[in-house]
Amino acid sequence: MWTNSVDKALRERAEAVIPGGMYGHQSVRLLPDDYPQFFDRASGTYLWDADGNRYIDYMCGYGPNLFGYGHESIDAAYISQLKKGDTMTGPAGLMVELAEQMTAMVSHADWAIFCKNGTDATTMAMMVARNFTRKNTIVLAKGAYHGAAPWCTPVKNGTAPSDRANQVFYIYNDVASLEEAVRKAGDDLAAIFASPIKHDTFVDQEDPITEYAQRARELCDEKGALLIVDDVRAGFRLARDSSWARVGVKPDLSSWGKAIANGHPISALLGAEKARNAAATIYATGSFWFSAAPMAASLETMRLIRETDYLERTQSLGQRLRAGLDEAANRHGFALRQTGPAEMPLIMFEEDPGYSKGYAWNDALMKRGVYFHPWHNMFICAAMTEADIDHTIEVANDAFKFVRDAGKLPRIEKLAILGLLTDGH
Ligand SMILES: Cc1ncc(COP(=O)(O)O)c(C=O)c1O
Repeated sequence: MWTNSVDKALRERAEAVIPGGMYGHQSVRLLPDDYPQFFDRASGTYLWDADGNRYIDYMCGYGPNLFGYGHESIDAAYISQLKKGDTMTGPAGLMVELAEQMTAMVSHADWAIFCKNGTDATTMAMMVARNFTRKNTIVLAKGAYHGAAPWCTPVKNGTAPSDRANQVFYIYNDVASLEEAVRKAGDDLAAIFASPIKHDTFVDQEDPITEYAQRARELCDEKGALLIVDDVRAGFRLARDSSWARVGVKPDLSSWGKAIANGHPISALLGAEKARNAAATIYATGSFWFSAAPMAASLETMRLIRETDYLERTQSLGQRLRAGLDEAANRHGFALRQTGPAEMPLIMFEEDPGYSKGYAWNDALMKRGVYFHPWHNMFICAAMTEADIDHTIEVANDAFKFVRDAGKLPRIEKLAILGLLTDGH
């Protein structure tokens, strides 16, 4: 029996000592009401909440879990380095090895800077581009997420208009709007930012159209600006190289984080030779950026990326899930919108403008031991098995039946703050 009394009690205590009860992307405020906020442990594919309920976890920590929680050889490398020395007065020698390995794996990259969070890497990318060009304007896709610093956080409270000065927006995959944004930047263009795929929340995902990616490259070359691919979320999930290797386009800079150490805290900015001097002459640092244990974990993660079939496995598991869910949905008279690469699935319902079906279905899945997300892309990890996928499809089948039989579904009032409930409600 699924229960949540421990979670409820923790949430009440959190209300008193954590602003808003919880902050950031791991706040469950915009998820179905009963989604657990607090977790106890994680192993392989599974996650246990504070009440002891077990889930097959399709969020993978919002991306970092690539090879399974608590992966044996990655954690062994981490612990061994932790015992030798972690946050010291200077970096360990293995920092150089990690930079050598990542630049050997990522074809556009000749150098690496390590940092802690994805936002560090995207912010530094912006700084390097501005330093390289001595220009200010950044062209970005509307709705794309690049982190939570004042220049890019999606909620503007607490930021100044000047934090977002020198930004021009385009529509992802729309060549004409990209060209228009670059025209607006005039002779002040420092960089074009691109997500490797369109992986915005609440809307269908899109693979990059080759013509769009190539045009972004050409425009940067014409203007002397830098092309930045933000691979923080998708990095090494779609390719053993930059994600835009899939469309044959090399960025000048790429930001990485999330999965590069399978959950241990480290991120990176990688760059091409031409931006080396610009990268060497900005000042960016942090107390924990040089910690050695996450670097040791990342080295082992890189080895697994090179030497295992994790990529092909996660792709084929994702395809198995996609096909099984479509079939189960149809059986109950539903049609799904499953978009994006199969190993980074986003699953929403057709004819569900207020997300009511999605919320009810996700809630039913969660209470049956499958942790899905109603409006953010999910992740397949290499620890998942065919049996996990087949079990998920069975549970989903049950959840579809539950939603079909539920009758009129409630309006998801909590989404009103995002202005998402104007259509169809
Ligand atoms: C594409 C992308 N860029 C940047 C970030 C920011 O990374 P972090 O939360 O580690 O600062 C994220 C985080 O979700 C992301 O998905």
